[in-house]
Amino acid sequence: MKKMLIALALLALPGLTMASSGGSHLMTAPIDLHNKASLQKGAQLFVNYCMGCHSLEHQRYNRMARDIGLTDEQVKDNLIFTGAKVGDTMQNAMPKADAKKWFGVTPPDLTLIARSRGVNYLYTYLLTYYEDPSRPYGVNNAVFPNTGMPHVLWQLQGMQKPVYTVHKDAEGHENKTIEGFELVQPGSMSPPEYKEAITDLVNFLAYVGEPIQLERQQIGIWVVLFLVLAFVVFYLLKKEYWKDVH
Ligand code: HEC
Repeated sequence: MKKMLIALALLALPGLTMASSGGSHLMTAPIDLHNKASLQKGAQLFVNYCMGCHSLEHQRYNRMARDIGLTDEQVKDNLIFTGAKVGDTMQNAMPKADAKKWFGVTPPDLTLIARSRGVNYLYTYLLTYYEDPSRPYGVNNAVFPNTGMPHVLWQLQGMQKPVYTVHKDAEGHENKTIEGFELVQPGSMSPPEYKEAITDLVNFLAYVGEPIQLERQQIGIWVVLFLVLAFVVFYLLKKEYWKDVH
């Protein structure tokens, strides 16, 4: 009985951590690691819009090229803006000390961000910047309140305003929660186009967080095939061995 209670409590744990994250609801990132076109678009967005501040210290350009279906030449011509060589890691050119001076915080390396924060968090983070004149950059974020990062994609997304619902708690205090957003200034992309771009970007970061994922799934298929074949062979062997006994 005690064991069962403990097991139940453990089952409830993920729910509890969700509840303590301020109630902000995470959207599900519809990523697909097998979609090479999406990974390529994500890489393009990353080097154009993110690498000014963030690096991918543990990712090499040529490894990325191979994994997402590009040649070294294509990467050299289209994705390297820092003067790096194709065998180098994806470092940005901004000195860390300057970054700290400019932003108050050093922009973190993003190699492992998809694993530490999860893809749904990243997706929601990049979709929920909103106008907030009280903040230094005039924007705030629904899942990372008071983030030190400006809304670097606002030209693509445009600017949105939160739509609040107001709840009264038992003591009559009013609590505002963000229920949705309303586009107040359109960007160069439509909302569905922007969502797709963010999906590509998050897809790319998911790949970068664990490049072996793509290979591992393939290895997995071979392992299962091997087990099926082995089963057939052993079954036939067993029949052969026991034939004379029965
Ligand atoms: C102008 C500089 C700048 C650019 C460009 C930039 N960022 Fe950031 N980013 C920051 C800073 C500064 C932080 C740290 C924010 C903080 O801790 O308050 C940050 C933090 C983050 C985080 C961590 C959030 C967390 O919960 O810890 C993610 C994820 C992120 N950036 C993704 C991106 C992506 C994706 C892009 C490209 C679309 C991008 N950033 C472009 C400056 C930048």
